Amino acid sequence: MTVIERAPAKINLGLDVMGKRTDGYHDLSMVMMSVDLCDYITAEDLDEDIIQFESDCPKMPIQNNDVYKVAQLIKKEFNIQRGVFLHLTKKIPVCAGMGGGSSDAAATIRALNTLWNLNLSYQDMIRIGMEIGSDVPYCIQAGCAHIRGKGEIVQPIVGHLSSWVVLAKPHFGISTRTVFPSIDCQEISRVDIESIVKALEEDDYQKLLRKMGNSLEDISIAKKPFIQKIKDKMMQSGADIAMMTGSGPSVFALCKTEKQANRVVNSVKGFCKEVYKVRTL
Ligand code: C5P
Repeated sequence: MTVIERAPAKINLGLDVMGKRTDGYHDLSMVMMSVDLCDYITAEDLDEDIIQFESDCPKMPIQNNDVYKVAQLIKKEFNIQRGVFLHLTKKIPVCAGMGGGSSDAAATIRALNTLWNLNLSYQDMIRIGMEIGSDVPYCIQAGCAHIRGKGEIVQPIVGHLSSWVVLAKPHFGISTRTVFPSIDCQEISRVDIESIVKALEEDDYQKLLRKMGNSLEDISIAKKPFIQKIKDKMMQSGADIAMMTGSGPSVFALCKTEKQANRVVNSVKGFCKEVYKVRTL
């Protein structure tokens, strides 16, 4: 049997850091939205009882990656004595703040659940996802959601944001692990996540634009001022809003019309190698 799962990228419409936890992580409140820039996971039965991984992305390590780790973890926990071949088709840039790695891991959980008839509950999938990374639980269902805690509390938002999204990934990456240690919880700019959730529920685009924000933006811009340059270019060319996603370095613009989105693409493609024009899912 062969199972194919789509793994969409995400943008943060809001990211608020509420405080530091005793386990070293941070309590977060975030609004995430899927966009139609997707990786794909293919899972196939193998005769031999091994995990075989392959990707069209040459930089991807064969074993030290989250797709392989998910398979290892599930195989061990459920004592699966069958082999699996996993293929990852990579379209989402890595180390970009677009949640590509987390989405691949979540898609692997869904794929193996089907391939191995595990009948996992949503809560089981959240728990397995959390063992891999804090953004994986959201990616199990993806779409538009309010995420809290370390990332394990996921509440879908019933909203209708339909927009063009221009994503620009600079030539450098930022690892989330280097951004969080720089946070001063007393000084960090806060974001009103509840109002973003309300704006989405009320389908109030103007209110959404006024309330959107990312607490990590100042920290990442201080490390890499180029991020601010992309934001400025996008705003100057008519974006409704331009904001960093996750811990960066990618910046996205929301545009109501395709004409606007095309202008934003043209304004950044000269100095950003990877630029994508996509839609919210
Ligand atoms: O869970 P994950 O490995 O994706 O997290 C990467 C890094 O992000 C952690 O090492 C931690 O520094 C930071 N983080 C955090 N609080 C969260 C999620 C992530 O401090 N809720």
